Amino acid sequence: MAPKLSVAVLLLCVGVCVARNSDFSIVGYSEEDLSSHDRLIELFEKWLAKHQKAYASFEEKLHRFEVFKDNLKLIDEINREVTSYWLGLNEFADLTHDEFKAAYLGLSPPPASRSSSRSFRYEDLSAHDLPKEVDWRKKGAVTDVKNQGQCGSCWAFSTVAAVEGINAIVTGNLTALSEQELIDCSVDGNSGCNGGMMDYAFSYIASSGGLHTEEAYPYLMEEGSCGDGKKSESEAVSISGYEDVPAKDEQALIKALAHQPVSVAIEASGRHFQFYSGGVFDGPCGAHLDHGVAAVGYGSDKGKGHDYIIVKNSWGAKWGEKGYIRMKRGTGKGEGLCGINKMASYPTKDN
Ligand SMILES: *[C@@H]1O[C@H](CO)[C@@H](O)[C@H](O)[C@H]1NC(C)=O
Repeated sequence: MAPKLSVAVLLLCVGVCVARNSDFSIVGYSEEDLSSHDRLIELFEKWLAKHQKAYASFEEKLHRFEVFKDNLKLIDEINREVTSYWLGLNEFADLTHDEFKAAYLGLSPPPASRSSSRSFRYEDLSAHDLPKEVDWRKKGAVTDVKNQGQCGSCWAFSTVAAVEGINAIVTGNLTALSEQELIDCSVDGNSGCNGGMMDYAFSYIASSGGLHTEEAYPYLMEEGSCGDGKKSESEAVSISGYEDVPAKDEQALIKALAHQPVSVAIEASGRHFQFYSGGVFDGPCGAHLDHGVAAVGYGSDKGKGHDYIIVKNSWGAKWGEKGYIRMKRGTGKGEGLCGINKMASYPTKDN
């Protein structure tokens, strides 16, 4: 009996140790880091170095350590409870939830209802005609993940991702386009770093003749006058217009997504969202839309049977799954997870 038992114990230990080691690189801490105050200080110092953070004073550093510990507590609690996704000590780990919400979102409160007069060109497709999975990244229609920084310009990033997508699909030319141009110039309904809406931005692009490249009109993370930030000339990328995906209709969103990347709005102000670092996210979140992002595909997690939508965020490549989040679909709620089915739209580009 005794040898058998020790083998079992050993195997268990190996399993646990391996799990912890592989977890560390994703979630940013190990069980041992939580074991003492000294280990926590060490972990904080390592985190500061990794994210190249520096504070103006020792008091500030102490305060940030408290915030860090509070966030770590939540992250560890959730990682113990939840299996479909996990949270990690990312670069937002020294921000309180309120600070995070104030800095990194930026969708204007949506109008109570959208005019539904516009046509939806993918209406007549049958569900059978849709591919089982689509990933526009693999088809060369998605540029590298960008970072809005501390400016409520998510709406511009969401818009640009969808325009980059349709432009690549129609012309075969994948080129990063300018969010700054939208921030500076698309002011009819939009408010730069204080929020905006993707439909207003599409409307601006369709009527202004197009957007210049990211390189020609680089991101400054602040509002300027229209044209001021333009460093060089480039050929503008135009669109014909835009259409809204019928609201609260997940099948409609999938139909559109099978054809092109789509701008979507979600509620991203939850604490879990702040620290999401991988897996198929299934909440908690409400449907008070406060963040604009871009849906760039859909698929299924075969092992766990989760269907998801692939979403490109604008918080840099260190957040989530290299800057992306997989959000569960098929939740049974018309509005979709975090309201993702409520306000989707896409640009059109007719030859
Ligand atoms: C792709 O489009 C951009 C923007 O219009 C343009 O500057 C660039 O020359 C194009 N590249 C090719 C290979 O056509």
